Amino acid sequence: MDQKSHWDDVFAQNSAFFGEAPSDFARRCCELFQKEGVRSVLELGCGQGRDTFLFAQQGFDITCVDYSETAISAVKEKAQKASLTAQIHAQTHNLKEAMLFSDNSFDACFSHMLLCMHLSTAEIGFVLREMHRVLKPGGIAVYSVRNNFDKHYRAGTHLSEDIYDVGGFVIHFLTEEKIKKLAKGYDIVEINRLEEGSLPRDLFVVTLRKAASPENWELEDTKESKDMNDPMQKFQEFLDATLAPRVLENKTKQLVTLAAALAAGCDP
Ligand SMILES: C[S@@+](CC[C@H](N)C(=O)[O-])C[C@H]1O[C@@H](n2cnc3c(N)ncnc32)[C@H](O)[C@@H]1O
Repeated sequence: MDQKSHWDDVFAQNSAFFGEAPSDFARRCCELFQKEGVRSVLELGCGQGRDTFLFAQQGFDITCVDYSETAISAVKEKAQKASLTAQIHAQTHNLKEAMLFSDNSFDACFSHMLLCMHLSTAEIGFVLREMHRVLKPGGIAVYSVRNNFDKHYRAGTHLSEDIYDVGGFVIHFLTEEKIKKLAKGYDIVEINRLEEGSLPRDLFVVTLRKAASPENWELEDTKESKDMNDPMQKFQEFLDATLAPRVLENKTKQLVTLAAALAAGCDP
């Protein structure tokens, strides 16, 4: 099942999958937004809107997007019941595509556990670039992602990069190194760790400020992608280390070389 259908199913079966209460992360961000004089907020991957409603109740004008129609319908219905339709503007949108908002239109962007979904590093870079485009000059972007300290990191089925299918939920676990590389066009204000929920989820929470657009938006390779790009070099490094003097007995060296040759499809 693709991830969009999976989230639709999850939200259809549980009207408050992440709970009714707003997240700790959103509460912290409210304080920051108030200090910064923010008025308009764009929320990406809002789910069923637990944080959207906090922002609206705190007086922010909130536009929120998610690709799950089930989630967006629920947000719209709840906004109507709470008489908050003037403050909450909810839309379905797949963030792998460009957003329909004008350049320089929001004071702040917020996303809680969206950038660690089924997105490659290049796709996360694309979303961050879109956030940069729609943010006003000097605007702030705050986001959270599952990180490489999370107890589910490397659990489940490996798909690609640091992306794993954990019980049907596809998660990209981000390292601090990757977050820094992805911050092109922004000044990094802070990167902190936060544990949230009963699992608990181990998150990096990131605060960025929009800076001038770089001449080149191309992302540098992370160590992880370099490793993936050059498997022959990894293989060579492994053999060199194994065959180095005094590391292994001769008999073991012969066996390792034989196994490596068979794995590489050579005729030993
Ligand atoms: C981990 S949930 C977090 C939901 C919400 N931020 C919260 O904390 O309650 C991730 C959300 O991102 C949405 N999502 C995942 N990939 C997306 C994409 N490519 N475009 C738009 N929404 C996406 C899912 O539908 C889901 O609602």
